[in-house]
Amino acid sequence: MNRLVPTEMLPETLWNSLESVLILPPQLVSSWKFLLEKNGLLEKAKERAPEGFEGGMSKEDTDNHLAWRFTGSSARVMLPILDPKDELDNIPDVFIRIFSGNKVFLADLPCGSGAASLSILTVLYELRRQNLVPREPLHVVIVGGEISKFAQQYANEALYRVVAELETQAIIVEFEFIDWNVCDKISNTDLIRKLTIKSQDCATRLLLLSNFSGFLEREKKWKDAQPQLDELFRHSRDDNSIALWIEPQKNNVTSGGGFMQRLIKWFRGAFANILSKDETEVDNYAESSADVVHPLNMGKFRVGLAVVRFDLPL
Ligand SMILES: C[S@@+](CC[C@H](N)C(=O)[O-])C[C@H]1O[C@@H](n2cnc3c(N)ncnc32)[C@H](O)[C@@H]1O
Repeated sequence: MNRLVPTEMLPETLWNSLESVLILPPQLVSSWKFLLEKNGLLEKAKERAPEGFEGGMSKEDTDNHLAWRFTGSSARVMLPILDPKDELDNIPDVFIRIFSGNKVFLADLPCGSGAASLSILTVLYELRRQNLVPREPLHVVIVGGEISKFAQQYANEALYRVVAELETQAIIVEFEFIDWNVCDKISNTDLIRKLTIKSQDCATRLLLLSNFSGFLEREKKWKDAQPQLDELFRHSRDDNSIALWIEPQKNNVTSGGGFMQRLIKWFRGAFANILSKDETEVDNYAESSADVVHPLNMGKFRVGLAVVRFDLPL
């Protein structure tokens, strides 16, 4: 199976194999702590989050998400890159195909405060620093879409904090976080235009959707959002273009008839004419979970992942 680093070679700085715990990359943690301190949220981040809190677009929801959920969102994205328990079949292959070198494109949707982008970049940095992956120059172009202006601003600041350090490992990053309302046709078309222009000369493209089921399912927005998701996926088709959809491993997401099954059914319906028989039969769906060291010395927390991969052929 193709993966960036074999399980037995994962660095102790990201995966403590004796205790089976994930460790968030230091650059990610320092960027997060900087945002917490600057915005008076450090004490809040040490409180216990209310059960079921998922975030939203207001300033208060954005702040609470940054304080309580940013670390979980980040760790959830580390799981498919590192797959420390070897549970994710052909999902880690995505990261070797997309991020091996050259100029690559990442669409981070909805980007929230930038946890997914920051997690990918700082894990790649750490693997390079430890000489576990080749240090070919890697130019990563990121476009994040998000309805909350407050979250867009946090994402900008979070990434800006790590740019110089990433360069020391030959990772050049270019990023832009823009308004996006998945339920609005015009806003979605504007996002797609931006994705198309920015990804024009990139060798590979990753369309990453993470942590959106709360809004789409619980707030019953799937019907309003689906035409825009159709359009987004249609326009993301290209050679070497892959979509990953990452969600928390919750009952309403994973169980039969849950969110992930809905996604797979939708994708196969929308692309029936261009998918090969194999692609409609092979299940590119997997789950994993792990404990994570809390970066504010508050013990460990558990993160669960449900992930589905969609190859987007021309
Ligand atoms: C649970 S957060 C996930 C953010 C990020 N992907 C992460 O994992 O940290 C959900 C995000 O969806 C955004 N959102 C809510 N409604 C939206 C909409 N109609 N269009 C685009 N984004 C929306 C919220 O502002 C929030 O940042």
